[in-house]
Amino acid sequence: IITASSCLELTLAMIKPHATKVPYIVKGVQNIIISNDFYIVRSKQMTISPDLAEAFYKEHKDKFFYNRLITLMSSGISHVYILARQNAIKKWREIMGPTKVFKAKISHPHSIRGQFGLTDTRNVTHGSDSVESFKKEVSLLFPEFNVNKWYETEEIHFR
Ligand code: PPS
Repeated sequence: IITASSCLELTLAMIKPHATKVPYIVKGVQNIIISNDFYIVRSKQMTISPDLAEAFYKEHKDKFFYNRLITLMSSGISHVYILARQNAIKKWREIMGPTKVFKAKISHPHSIRGQFGLTDTRNVTHGSDSVESFKKEVSLLFPEFNVNKWYETEEIHFR
């Protein structure tokens, strides 16, 4: 166990079900996580139920793509991570690239979505967009994880 110095921030990252089926993409995303100096605080593989996907994407309920998004997210195994780094939330979203894949391909070709994205729904990864979203998302996907306690100790477990 290492107790890290004090400026780490947590974020929640996820490899979406269509992408976990492709070893080349999983390897690529994991390499990007490591090479950008993120600590992996927790990681697990899980199948997200439609109910859980609905709670996770509640704020998109009225969007035209909502049903498509819920169907995709509950269609298979997702890889979910709690990551720690300085400015983790901003940095992870930067590395993912824009939500819209056509934009990612053209203006951010080396981002995750630029390299591996297929469509605006099947855009490979998710990342929290704010501290509030992170807290909500972590409580849904890692209900046993105590965010406040982690910030008190900042313990990184190497397994
Ligand atoms: S938006 O348009 O500002 O609400 O988009 P954003 O908050 O970046 O992400 C919305 C999530 O919905 C998924 N999705 C789409 N977004 C935009 N346009 C289309 N057509 C679309 N279809 C699906 C998108 O992948 C985002 O998922 P997450 O998991 O949050 O990245």
